Amino acid sequence: MFIQIADILTAAELRLADAVFAQADVFESGARTAGRAARAVKNNEQARPSGLAADMTTLIEKRLLKNDVFRAAARPKNVIRILLSRYMLGMSYGLHSDDAFIEGQRADLSFTLFLSPPESYEGGDLVVEEPSGERLIKLEAGALVLYPSATLHRVVEVTKGERRAAVGWIRSRIRSAEVRETLFDVALALRQAEAAGDPALIDRLLKIQGALLRRWGED
Ligand code: NI
Repeated sequence: MFIQIADILTAAELRLADAVFAQADVFESGARTAGRAARAVKNNEQARPSGLAADMTTLIEKRLLKNDVFRAAARPKNVIRILLSRYMLGMSYGLHSDDAFIEGQRADLSFTLFLSPPESYEGGDLVVEEPSGERLIKLEAGALVLYPSATLHRVVEVTKGERRAAVGWIRSRIRSAEVRETLFDVALALRQAEAAGDPALIDRLLKIQGALLRRWGED
């Protein structure tokens, strides 16, 4: 399941991100954090996790964990890592899937939070492989796409401007993507029941949700 969520960050928060990217000395080669297979195809830069960059990733984590749609789709146990990345002219990230374990934690979900307006750069699309073909994703600044970490994906070479994004990995309480999707459907149904003002239906759905979480959820 792929989920897109708009407006994770406000315009003011995006300006804070710009301030991080304006610092010349915080970026280093992205190869440092790539797994063995990914290193050969990864050509971008990442912010060292200190100072303003660390403040920014802390803020992003907070915004994610406060977002109802994100919580319902990811069922996060932990945000394993968030990196600020940039792709300048000629940079790309070839086809790969993300490591199963990052910092000793199972990476279930990956996300890309776009930080620069799509009209400010050319290329730089996130491309994900699906059974039906390739899907190109380039979102507004402040919007996020969440997808299973096992998905094959790449970033198209940037041919103009600079692509800025935060990327991250989530350890979910729900191991199975299928069960996560069912729980997401229950969350949507709950929202509909709340909108319809149907307390009996809400109670029934909460019972189903609780049963699924007890059966499949990890502490
Ligand atoms: Ni990746």
